[in-house]
Amino acid sequence: MKTLLDALWNEHRSIAAVLHTMSRVMGDARAHGQRPDPRLLRAMLYYLDVFPERVHHPKEEMYLFAAVRRHTHDADQVLETLSREHEAGEQAIRALEQALLRYEQGGATELEALQQATARFVAGYREHLRMEEQELMPIASRVLGDAEWAELNAQWAAQHDPLAGIESGDEYERLLDRIVELAPPPLGIARP
Ligand SMILES: [Fe+2]
Ligand SMILES: [Fe+2]
Repeated sequence: MKTLLDALWNEHRSIAAVLHTMSRVMGDARAHGQRPDPRLLRAMLYYLDVFPERVHHPKEEMYLFAAVRRHTHDADQVLETLSREHEAGEQAIRALEQALLRYEQGGATELEALQQATARFVAGYREHLRMEEQELMPIASRVLGDAEWAELNAQWAAQHDPLAGIESGDEYERLLDRIVELAPPPLGIARP
């Protein structure tokens, strides 16, 4: 049976794949003087805007963070940082969108600023994922027993029902497909 933790790990892998693509596309643009495809950049930003904001972060806050808070104070500082980053997530996306818009309208002169904004965004996001996986989840594994995990999984499964409208995996899978279509090889299948 798929558990809440499995779902969170899988979602991290999807988010990390998009961050990797974003970072590589910008790195290649810098190294080879290529012009990154704004459609690809917009598709990735859109995914990172809607999927974590609507599905992933609320799921973490509602189930994992709340359960850990109930059982220990060991994670208080980590949880405070992570929750603050969740709240600031939308603002970070907007800043990157603005850099992208400037690049789309201003062209090559705005590329350097977009590359720097992307590098900051990707580094911050990776650190967020690292903190959740390497600091919070080990504390959760330590303080939550089998009964607590079973209850959390049951609560999540009840909300996870696509008919309940909380999550619709297909919609986000389609967004990932679109990114693969637009990304150049070896990241995706777009024609160079
Ligand atoms: Fe998070
Ligand atoms: Fe996360």
